[in-house]
Amino acid sequence: MVKQVATNVVWHEGEISRVDRYEILRQKGATIWFTGLSGSGKSTIAVALETALHAMGKLSYRLDGDNVRLGINKNLGFSETDRKENIRRIGEIAKLFGDGGTIALSSFISPYKVDREEVRKLHEAADLPFVEVHVDCALSIAENRDPKGLYKKARAGKIKNFTGIDDPYEAPDNPEIHLRTDKMTLQQEVDAIINYLISHEIIRKEYFTRASDSVAATG
Ligand code: ADX
Repeated sequence: MVKQVATNVVWHEGEISRVDRYEILRQKGATIWFTGLSGSGKSTIAVALETALHAMGKLSYRLDGDNVRLGINKNLGFSETDRKENIRRIGEIAKLFGDGGTIALSSFISPYKVDREEVRKLHEAADLPFVEVHVDCALSIAENRDPKGLYKKARAGKIKNFTGIDDPYEAPDNPEIHLRTDKMTLQQEVDAIINYLISHEIIRKEYFTRASDSVAATG
């Protein structure tokens, strides 16, 4: 838990509620939190899910490890403390997206259970859905894929503290969704998430456009 440093600060309420925002967007906000080894498929699934949601008229936004580390988190490295701060900030950002009405697709290794649990608690306290997706594949397969050539560098000792090589990855015990990316197709993975979102009423099944205008406000 990060300590509140600033004093004499109080929450300032606006006049527009979360539900008001959701009505404009005709959907609810939520966070889909992908966790898994580098090369497990998190970003690939997030991109495909974003495309599928878009086709359903649902607004989502990808928060991707590498992208975020090139921007707001450019001052963070891969020590345990920096990874913790990385995840804390993304958790807060995802929560803001959800409060605003967008489905945040967050793909970070997020190797520590305790950090992911903090993000979950943050969402629960804000009454926002948090869907943890374990993007699971054997280290040997992620290493074999090695899309960025980083495992090779890590094995050669050119990258230190590389997750799965000389840094830990703590798999979730009870993720909402467990995807075996060494056994499933990308389409099956996207379908599994969409089905979860529909069955848990995070999104509604109907495909609709503003023109057809036939579906009730939220959902
Ligand atoms: S996290 O552990 O803090 O959640 P994050 O997902 O943001 O990690 O960043 C991981 C990405 O950074 C990897 O996909 C890889 O491209 C790159 N990277 C560079 N160095 C490391 C490292 N030491 N461990 C893991 N990933 C690294």
